[in-house]
Amino acid sequence: MLTNAGMDQAWTSDPGPVLISKSEIAARVESLADEISRDYQGQSIKVGVVLAGAIVFAADLVRQISLDVEIFFIQASSYGDGTVSSGQVQVRRDEKVELADTHVLVVDDILDTGYTARALLDDLGSQRPASLRMATLLDKPSRRQVDVQVDYVGFEVPNKFVVGYGMDHSGSFRHLPSVHALD
Ligand code: IMP
Ligand code: MG
Repeated sequence: MLTNAGMDQAWTSDPGPVLISKSEIAARVESLADEISRDYQGQSIKVGVVLAGAIVFAADLVRQISLDVEIFFIQASSYGDGTVSSGQVQVRRDEKVELADTHVLVVDDILDTGYTARALLDDLGSQRPASLRMATLLDKPSRRQVDVQVDYVGFEVPNKFVVGYGMDHSGSFRHLPSVHALD
């Protein structure tokens, strides 16, 4: 592992201690996939993957869902200072993906203030899907600013900045197989 142990620079590339291990994640993702497969039994779904944080979770999740799955990508950028999302979130997605009368499942990495989830659900809901649900690997309920309904939650986490399993800090740590608490 790269760390700055013993060096005098101010930077670090230490992701901090493991908060949720690779095997705990694998077990939980498998049970979420089972639950989703049961809930939508006999139907096909369109999975909207929120870039970039949700790519690792979504990749593991969709491979264990036993339904017809179509995948599309969504970009959600929040205005503000970059670490805390503001109330204004811009949503971009491929307009060619037809969502009307289809079952849409949004997959994101972490639900924090809820502003992003709210914007995503409003945007996708405006396309009149037959159903609209959301899955998130992590939930930090202590930080919620907006009342938002999420259907599938992997784990609740304390109010710490987390990285790994898709989540980054300034671009780093997305590739780590476990979730770490950066603090
Ligand atoms: P919200 O709009 O405040 O709910 O923020 C949701 C988005 O902020 C997530 O999709 C992440 O991209 C990012 N985010 C929030 N908390 C964390 C964290 O602890 N680590 C990494 N990204 C985070
Ligand atoms: Mg995100």
